[in-house]
Amino acid sequence: MSPEEFRRYGYEAVDWIADFLAHPERHPVLPQCQPGDLIDALPAQGPETGEPMSAILEDFRTLIVPALTHWNHPGFMAYFATSASPPGILGEMLATAVNPNGMLWKTAPAVTELEQVTLGWLREWMGLPPEFFGMIHDTASSSTLHAIAAARTAADANEGEGRLVMYASEQAHSSVEKAGLALGMGRDCLRKIPVDDEFRMHPGALADAIGRDLADGLRPFCVTATAGTTSTTSVDPIPAIAEIAARHRLWLHVDAAYAGAATLAPEFRWVLEGAEHADSLVMNPHKWMFTPVDLSAFYTRRPEVLRQTFSLVPEYLRSAEHPRAVNLMDYGVPLGRRFRALKLWFVLRSYGREGIARIIRAQTGYARELAALVDAHPDFERLAPVPFSVVCFRFKGTDERNLKLIERVNATGRAFLSHTVLHGKVVIRLAIGNMGTTREHVMDAWRLLRSEA
Ligand SMILES: Cc1ncc(COP(=O)(O)O)c(C=O)c1O
Repeated sequence: MSPEEFRRYGYEAVDWIADFLAHPERHPVLPQCQPGDLIDALPAQGPETGEPMSAILEDFRTLIVPALTHWNHPGFMAYFATSASPPGILGEMLATAVNPNGMLWKTAPAVTELEQVTLGWLREWMGLPPEFFGMIHDTASSSTLHAIAAARTAADANEGEGRLVMYASEQAHSSVEKAGLALGMGRDCLRKIPVDDEFRMHPGALADAIGRDLADGLRPFCVTATAGTTSTTSVDPIPAIAEIAARHRLWLHVDAAYAGAATLAPEFRWVLEGAEHADSLVMNPHKWMFTPVDLSAFYTRRPEVLRQTFSLVPEYLRSAEHPRAVNLMDYGVPLGRRFRALKLWFVLRSYGREGIARIIRAQTGYARELAALVDAHPDFERLAPVPFSVVCFRFKGTDERNLKLIERVNATGRAFLSHTVLHGKVVIRLAIGNMGTTREHVMDAWRLLRSEA
């Protein structure tokens, strides 16, 4: 492709992006396609010779876009909504253009250093201590895997006999259990601790479980506290959990993948109270911080344990030591490293802390307003408190009717909701978090729910 052609198609692509961002509602949030439709619509063999960019862009518009679930649609209120904000998109475009690989400081100094700078700003905004060392992973699942691998290294240094066991609440994300699987410790290395009636881990039950395991000759080594659980966004009592962890020398990992972002608004600083005692913490700017997928911020106060766990330097990657030259490959599994920090830097600078906090504050307000409407409606009931921007409620009917109701709302293409199960009942889960979601979008979803019900 000549520079002139690149310029022409580049402008065309940017124009398409600008129109897409201006009118996200032109596309249904949930596509009407069936499994296999796109595969059937595309050639089975790749092209022998190159094709014109005009044809490729046309197929993107007519075949690919209709087969997408639109996470950048303001009606996306399923799972945890995300956003590729315009500044984030620009950062991602430019990162791709310069295409560095931050294996070592030397292979891309700016990749390594911008990661420290952006995560440093974020750490301060979340009220975490300066000794927390930050690095970027793709997902919270990867961040938690690294945390638990380090926790195991720390436990091995403590010596002792018996099988290793770890703890998280029964509402914790499945990535904690999966980390145990991936690390070869099996699913049964995780004890799922009961929660109270607001879905927060019971510290007393944690202490009891540790006591039982010690009596059985097992070796407790790690506890994960969640700030913003996946189903209801409940916040575990981190100070009490931290105290128990300290008493038993457990590694404390805090999963703040979703709710960590809320602490950018000072009134939500309480969410990470006690997290200053954590050994590691994860929060995902690609959830509620308007940063395009993927970007997970991982912090640890014990980077030396990560290094001990993962540092392995083959000859071809040896480089001169310098106290300020961090080689991030020494702290985790991946060698290659995308320039993810650039899009985060664009987002943080373009919005500023207050700009992000303002959206978060507004969206928690919409969630509370919806909660009040649900509470006042005779045909609906709410099943969990609403600390942030997720409302869990149900139509007073069978599970089947609730699932059918979600399906009918989703089929309108105006809203996309998902479900969870609480107290054994199917619950509608409405999660506000896309940068474009306004009060009107939330009220529209509520109208749809009532009319479809
Ligand atoms: C609390 C929590 N932790 C971790 C994850 C996993 O996130 P990721 O998709 O970045 O691995 C999720 C996903 O929604 C989550 O809700």
